[in-house]
Amino acid sequence: MSEKTNDLVRLNRLDAGVVELVIDRPEALNALNIQVLLSLKAALETLASDASVRVILLRGAGEKAFVAGADIREMQTMGRSDAAQFSRLGHSVCLLLESMPKVTVAAVHGFALGGGTELALACDFILASEKAQFGLPEVGLGVIPGFGGTIRLARTLGLARAKELVFSGERIGASEAVQLGLVRKALPQDGFFDEVRKQAAKIARNSLSAVSAAKSLMNEFEETSGVHPKVDAEIQRFSSLFGTHDQKEGMVAFSEKRSARFEGL
Ligand code: HXC
Repeated sequence: MSEKTNDLVRLNRLDAGVVELVIDRPEALNALNIQVLLSLKAALETLASDASVRVILLRGAGEKAFVAGADIREMQTMGRSDAAQFSRLGHSVCLLLESMPKVTVAAVHGFALGGGTELALACDFILASEKAQFGLPEVGLGVIPGFGGTIRLARTLGLARAKELVFSGERIGASEAVQLGLVRKALPQDGFFDEVRKQAAKIARNSLSAVSAAKSLMNEFEETSGVHPKVDAEIQRFSSLFGTHDQKEGMVAFSEKRSARFEGL
């Protein structure tokens, strides 16, 4: 059964407490604008208190992308305080995915860039097809990751590997993501979502109270020394770059489909 929570986010209820939450903006490669984030937040808040739900599969619509990042065209016109609010909104979605008493799985079948990689990192784990591509290209736009990517990528890969990816903005394919430990294995593209649903159903057969007890225990570390204490710092650093020459140039260059000319200002 498919429920439209609104035009941008869709909910498919599968068997045995598995639901698919689909970001449905394929014409913009499912880029996260304010409206998408608000819809995701509302849907996750509802699912968090729905006793029939055990596993949430987060995915993108269309052939090409999980999520190609935050919406660059929308960010282009933001000032510092809008940017801070936007970053805080994305953080709230990520923190919900990370902390809700359900299993959250990112099913990545194509581009997961910038905010897309950040959203995937906030899920309990990522299932990726062999066509998945990850990366944090924000420095190529004159900004930095702002939905927890600087923190969660370092937690998952270790500081040096995360720094290399953040500073280079380089994209990595599924096999490198496996080598780095971002995902356990790359699944075949053909039948990817069927396989993802099977794996979700397997988890859903276990005791949800046991699984969510394990989840909250394993997350306790995050509340003291993990993501939580660093959220405000990331929001501040992300938004402080808005209004700079390089942020404006980076985002205009994307819209004009050309390379950015940065001045370090
Ligand atoms: C807005 C986007 C978009 C984005 C793609 N589109 N990504 N629009 N924001 N992040 C739009 C394109 O403009 C285009 O619209 C349509 O989607 C199809 O994309 P193409 O570029 O034509 O596709 P392709 O040539 O296959 O290239 C795919 C791509 C490229 C490599 C993924 O689209 C790309 O580099 N996208 C940006 C990736 C990125 O930099 N993400 C990080 C964003 S910053 P039109 O109208 O031209 O058809 C970020 C910060 C998070 O995420 C933290 C915030 C607080």
